[in-house]
Amino acid sequence: MNVEKDSLHQETHEITDLILAAKEKAYQETDDTPEPELTQSVGWPVECTVGPGLEGAIACETKIGYVNGGKGWLVYGGYNIFDLCAYSNYEEVSFLLLNGRMPNKSEFTEFKQKLMAARHIPNTLRLMMGFPVQDMNPMASLRIGTNMLRQRLTWRDMAKAKPSEELAVETDADAIDMDIPQSGQDHATYEFKRGHGQFNKPASARESQDDAEGMDACIHLISAMSVLTAAISRIRSDHIPIEWHPELSHAANLLYMMTGRIPTPVEERIMDVALILHADHGMNASTFASMVVASTLSDIYFSVGAGIAALNGPLHGGANEMVVKMLKEIGSPDNAKAWYAEKRANKEKIMGFGHRVYKAYDPRARILAPLAEYLARDNVQARKLYETAKSLEGEVIETLGKDKKIFPNVDYYSGIVYTCLGIPDDMFTPVFAVSRTAGWTARILEYIENNRIFRPRAIYTGGFVTDYTPLEQR
Ligand SMILES: CC(C)(COP(=O)(O)OP(=O)(O)OC[C@H]1O[C@@H](n2cnc3c(N)ncnc32)[C@H](O)[C@@H]1OP(=O)(O)O)[C@@H](O)C(=O)NCCC(=O)NCCS
Repeated sequence: MNVEKDSLHQETHEITDLILAAKEKAYQETDDTPEPELTQSVGWPVECTVGPGLEGAIACETKIGYVNGGKGWLVYGGYNIFDLCAYSNYEEVSFLLLNGRMPNKSEFTEFKQKLMAARHIPNTLRLMMGFPVQDMNPMASLRIGTNMLRQRLTWRDMAKAKPSEELAVETDADAIDMDIPQSGQDHATYEFKRGHGQFNKPASARESQDDAEGMDACIHLISAMSVLTAAISRIRSDHIPIEWHPELSHAANLLYMMTGRIPTPVEERIMDVALILHADHGMNASTFASMVVASTLSDIYFSVGAGIAALNGPLHGGANEMVVKMLKEIGSPDNAKAWYAEKRANKEKIMGFGHRVYKAYDPRARILAPLAEYLARDNVQARKLYETAKSLEGEVIETLGKDKKIFPNVDYYSGIVYTCLGIPDDMFTPVFAVSRTAGWTARILEYIENNRIFRPRAIYTGGFVTDYTPLEQR
């Protein structure tokens, strides 16, 4: 990409400079030549060597993104991740992933307007607050939230269903209609006020319920996930969710709705970069999980719910939270060597290192490390975390890096970045989900165009019992 360094993001050009320096270093240490066997159309069926966990298996063709694991490069729709982080923004990257090309000016304006409209989910939030969100795993709350989004009971989330001021005080009137008869009764016992003029379910609600599979559903999810995540964060810290700000970007809104404070340009920019970095990453476990669900022709909301469930695991999205815990446990840069020696002797895994695909330095970690350092400059605690991370990284690269090509992955520095941005530890994984929704939905849309239900096989190594023994004789 040939862009004058300072032509974009002028206010935060220091961040751009750090990203471009990381790109430069990546170019010096490796090159971005694609692997021919993974970047050319194949004739199906394709031959490949498959390991456990489907390692090496080719499941489909895609134009959305490419991870060059051997060299440490990441590409979305033809653009390398360094350039996207240096020059673009999350909204534009979402458009790129969903449409396979960059938007022109008017398309971008329209896309941003759609994203903004999709942030209006008051009824979904009300429904979700009926659950014990403060005591639940935030990823479980997020999954509930996506189910609520799917139920077009949330037609009330549509702008035209907004209550007028005098009706807004009648809380019963905008509660859920309980249509289900209690057992033994032939009508609903709990029937809230219905049929109050504009509270009647509009005919369009039915139509939108049917569109749980298209582009609008993707946009709805991309935006609404950020609102849900911020609300979950607020509720967990005993605060009331706050309304999104119509003049802020996706990244700034996420921070604003979580913290209640309009972020500085640098905070907004770094949040934006973190969202871009996590937006897509090949056939990772959560993307694959969401695609498997989509391949049954279930809808996008169910599919994204599967992605959230898969992302929750500590081997996937949960690792960044564990990294921060680990760095706190180590305590200081001086302790890293002894701590690591003990873990290594016990053959324990070090969180934030290693990757199924990358056998080189993860480009996302290349970008996040200097941003963590930048943010931690004026924050004593974060500075200690960062320096401890750097010290541990040196130890790990010296051993596991050399022996097994194990390097820091995206989760190693993202937790420090999020900490500096005021995001609580237990919200790191939901924030990852907010970003990855663009990749999940884009890949679902692309896959179902030429859908084939996923159905691998397992090798059966159990026995064959010929005679059934009745229970009492066993
Ligand atoms: C990401 C991860 C699940 C990839 O797993 P994988 O491709 O199945 O690789 P394996 O777990 O089989 O590891 C291969 C070898 O590297 C070692 N290894 C992998 N990650 C390691 C880590 N973080 N620390 C120490 N050793 C590690 C394994 O012990 C194994 O060694 P062996 O061959 O002597 O048995 C794995 O690297 C891991 O658990 N990392 C920590 C969690 C994490 O940071 N996840 C975020 C991913 S973005």
